[in-house]
Amino acid sequence: MATSVFIRPLQRHHEIEACARMMAASEPWITLRFDYAASLRALASPGKEIHLAVSGGEVTGFIMLNLKGAFVGYLQSICVAPACRGQGVGRRLVAFAEERVFREYPNLFICVSSFNPGAQRFYRNRGYEVVGELKNFLVDGHSEILLRKTIGSLTEFRKKQATV
Ligand SMILES: CC(C)(COP(=O)(O)OP(=O)(O)OC[C@H]1O[C@@H](n2cnc3c(N)ncnc32)[C@H](O)[C@@H]1OP(=O)(O)O)[C@@H](O)C(=O)NCCC(=O)NCCS
Repeated sequence: MATSVFIRPLQRHHEIEACARMMAASEPWITLRFDYAASLRALASPGKEIHLAVSGGEVTGFIMLNLKGAFVGYLQSICVAPACRGQGVGRRLVAFAEERVFREYPNLFICVSSFNPGAQRFYRNRGYEVVGELKNFLVDGHSEILLRKTIGSLTEFRKKQATV
């Protein structure tokens, strides 16, 4: 199934709604109190880039990238439809995010919830390192752990870009 997955940009409003439904029905967003309306607001807010994993005409997952702000190159959300998890879709989406972000910026940042050990392991295995812990950041009693994968300092990255 993973072999037939392709990634494309979100194109139509009903696709945002499908992503918001997927988020709102899944952990970690249930515990983080991101219901459908909050998920839709996050997905539809300006400056977001959303890419869908599609297989057999069905949306099987998505990533939401934020390419503006202080920590530019932020993978704000990744979600794979429950029935499609464990089949390589998440791996493809993260690889796509890295390819996309590392063309323009040398860092990819991700926050993962303290109560989400499966996703923590998923990111650790892909080379993400813990930057720090944001205690009681989204909800009381839980932390968001800020992760980073880097391909070099900003200065060296800009130097290399200038020579290409
Ligand atoms: C986390 C998530 C995006 C991973 O996507 P996926 O399609 O299930 O993962 P893949 O099938 O691509 O698996 C990739 C690897 O991670 C491992 N992995 C994935 N999810 C895991 C989990 N929950 N626990 C342990 N290992 C996991 C797989 O075993 C696989 O290992 P390998 O590369 O050594 O073969 C997906 O499970 C998901 O949407 N979870 C709910 C939402 C969520 O937690 N998002 C992250 C918010 S920060």
